[in-house]
Amino acid sequence: MYTQALNQAEPETVATEEPGRLARFQERIDAEERIEPNDWMPAAYRRTLIRQISQHAHSEIVGMLPEGNWITRAPSLRRKAALLAKVQDEGGHGLYLYAAAETLGVTREELVDQLLSGAAKYSSIFNYPTLTWADIGAIGWLVDGAAIMNQIPLCRTSYGPYARAMIRICKEESFHQRQGYEIMLTLCRGTPEQKAMAQDALNRWWWPALMMFGPPDSESQHTAQSMRWKIKRFTNDELRQKFVDATVPQGLYLGLTFPDPDLRFDPETGHWRFGAIDWEEFRRVLAGHGPCNRERLEARRRAHAEGAWVREAALANAAKRRQRTAYAAQRIAAE
Ligand SMILES: [Fe+2]
Ligand SMILES: [Fe+2]
Repeated sequence: MYTQALNQAEPETVATEEPGRLARFQERIDAEERIEPNDWMPAAYRRTLIRQISQHAHSEIVGMLPEGNWITRAPSLRRKAALLAKVQDEGGHGLYLYAAAETLGVTREELVDQLLSGAAKYSSIFNYPTLTWADIGAIGWLVDGAAIMNQIPLCRTSYGPYARAMIRICKEESFHQRQGYEIMLTLCRGTPEQKAMAQDALNRWWWPALMMFGPPDSESQHTAQSMRWKIKRFTNDELRQKFVDATVPQGLYLGLTFPDPDLRFDPETGHWRFGAIDWEEFRRVLAGHGPCNRERLEARRRAHAEGAWVREAALANAAKRRQRTAYAAQRIAAE
């Protein structure tokens, strides 16, 4: 899923690089050329991308956990099959993104170590618990919906492998968003208890979904550099507003109430105005003090440890294949 705009450039090293090269690089960016793995790029551009793409990959992988928790409890076979496919897609997104990050010269092992040691960030939204089945609806509708808003512009991001990975990911995200909304629609047309469950899920997921776009532009000091490099195409606040404008009418159609007394339509601008976001909570969860931070990392560490035999077996198998090919080549040479 999910670049929550932790994705920020580090402009400090730019000045030390040869000005001519930098100017040519910027010209290529301005001309909308894609930067490819073997092309020259400023060190800060590379670092920014490694961080952004790997945080995005980690978010996909950790994002499997809150929903995976409901696979065995989905209310019907159809719901189970759809949720299983969705969670599997998220694993696939993580793999494309790790592969895209690897083209920048970092290894998969380093990236996984950064996640498991707690050094790397992932989207804070996954540190909230999934308490009821309606949470699976709310996650698809709101969290995947927010992810799409963030990721559609990334299909045109300046780094080629990242942009290409995003095209496929966005197609799958739109299925995720629709399956979530359809769960919400079914609950809202159901019994009063089911509708109350949907309302409760919206109440808990709405504000964290708005936080997914990252801190306000006034506090996001590196956004400007990322925009110049066309890694980002819109600021955090612009994307957040697009999401609110798209999502509020969907919630009203469901007959739900948003947990924001200040939410109102502004006919002059055509935008939905919303209340103040609790950035203290955002920082607290980001710093590791959300309801499930510890549980999520423990689950990933356990999965990694339990998967050790798979990695060993795959390596042993690859070594055996290499050896067989080498023997065969020797025999042919000897004949
Ligand atoms: Fe995803
Ligand atoms: Fe998704």
